[in-house]
Amino acid sequence: MDVILDHPVYKRIGATADRLGIQAYAVGGVVRDYFLQRHCTDIDIVCLGSGIDLAQAVAADIDPHITVSVFRNFGTASFHYRHGDTVWQVEFVGARRESYHHDSRKPVVENGTLEDDQNRRDFTVNAMAVSLNNDTYGQLIDPFGGIRDLNEGILRTPLDPDVTFSDDPLRMMRAIRFAAQLGFRIHDNTFEAIARNANRIKIVSAERITTELNKILLSPTPSIGFKLLQKSGLLPIIFPELSNLKGVETVGQRGHKDNFYHTLEVVEHVAEKSDDLWLRWAALLHDIGKPATKRYDEKLGWTFHGHEVRGSRMVKRIFTHLRLPLDAKMKYVEKLVLLHLRPIILSEEEVTDSAVRRLLFDAGDDIDDLMTLCEADITSKNEEKVRRYLRNFQLVRKKLIELEEKDRIRNFQPPVKGEDIMTVFGIPPCHEVGIIKDAIKDAILDGIIPNERAAAWQMMLDEGAKLGLTAQHPADTANTRHSSTASCANDTSSGS
Ligand code: CTP
Repeated sequence: MDVILDHPVYKRIGATADRLGIQAYAVGGVVRDYFLQRHCTDIDIVCLGSGIDLAQAVAADIDPHITVSVFRNFGTASFHYRHGDTVWQVEFVGARRESYHHDSRKPVVENGTLEDDQNRRDFTVNAMAVSLNNDTYGQLIDPFGGIRDLNEGILRTPLDPDVTFSDDPLRMMRAIRFAAQLGFRIHDNTFEAIARNANRIKIVSAERITTELNKILLSPTPSIGFKLLQKSGLLPIIFPELSNLKGVETVGQRGHKDNFYHTLEVVEHVAEKSDDLWLRWAALLHDIGKPATKRYDEKLGWTFHGHEVRGSRMVKRIFTHLRLPLDAKMKYVEKLVLLHLRPIILSEEEVTDSAVRRLLFDAGDDIDDLMTLCEADITSKNEEKVRRYLRNFQLVRKKLIELEEKDRIRNFQPPVKGEDIMTVFGIPPCHEVGIIKDAIKDAILDGIIPNERAAAWQMMLDEGAKLGLTAQHPADTANTRHSSTASCANDTSSGS
């Protein structure tokens, strides 16, 4: 038999297993990835005996300082081990038989044979084992034709798929994720079983589902995964908002485009340009507000007015359901969804400096990602139209660079602050402060005054005078602060 695993860690495990008189095998993803020549640093070891004892003995043989994490309830133990530049995670388990209750993912576990262990794995390509003991080192144990399926690019379960998926419904998502990651086809029987068992996904936690969704989004061809999720009936259960994009309604001869397939095309375009998970999420959600804003108008046909605002407001609920982070990453997705039409609208008209400055102001540091999303959003079949848009985008990009160099709008900090205005006019926080601030900001964005303090200061004095305010401290002495005594013309809101 070929010796297929040549890293010293496998020899080390085999030697320790020989010393303890137990059989040990590398199993699962590490064997699959070896044949696919994919880099894999997570090593799963199964042994006929105690996985915990073997882990502790191997760790002690490699380096007595290694800390072994033991999970007695699961009968597993693992440790990290650095070799050269690579940190390996090695996990040990004794071969097990498992059976599951219908309403839970928690298995009843007993000791078993290697065959029992292979039987309970998800796919034939993940059920191969390689012996690590000295006398059989490198021998492949492949009872279900895993190598054949790897060569043919097929995902199928080792046992009856209804049993495999019912035992652990997350595997339905894993099948689809592997299809997107590896470009494999799910065998018909296996796929039909996913469709039959789709409802069982409800017992899986949102966190685990989302881990798979993220892996699908980060795969080379995410659309494969989302189409399969839709086709199998999983998507309407785990992510109904995305599933709702599917379909075309017609009135007379007039239909709109299918926003599900359009969205997937946009995700693919973005994936060609960027590996960033959150930009890919923004692409996936950019039109999520369309079903809720769809209207038919006799003159205009189908419209989706305000879908970007509606969609952006849906992001938080979706992120909450899917247990995605509700932090700056979510804010970034909200922002991109909200702004995703702006560069297109801008490039449809004359590209004015003022509109480009406003775009820079609103997008800030995310402007490049927004432009990537917008370019990806052009999925028209009309080549001339696509060329025209892309040409205009080039112009927008050029202007963005020129204006940013000149006016530094990207991280706009008002050159005159609300506190300056209150001090100069001796007023408390009020509506007028906001009016003056907005007037200065608009003048800068419209190119009426430069983005500089002196010009902004003068404008503040002029705008204050227009509002009937008297400058009590007209000179710009940036550090002086005075208590505000006078009252505003309209003292109702704090506009600073
Ligand atoms: N496995 C399984 N059912 C699951 C999860 C895992 O049968 N729901 C088995 C498979 O044999 C799998 C192995 O456990 O190959 C290791 O699981 P894991 O590390 O989660 O997956 P990998 O297959 O290694 O792939 P990835 O790391 O990309 O998730």
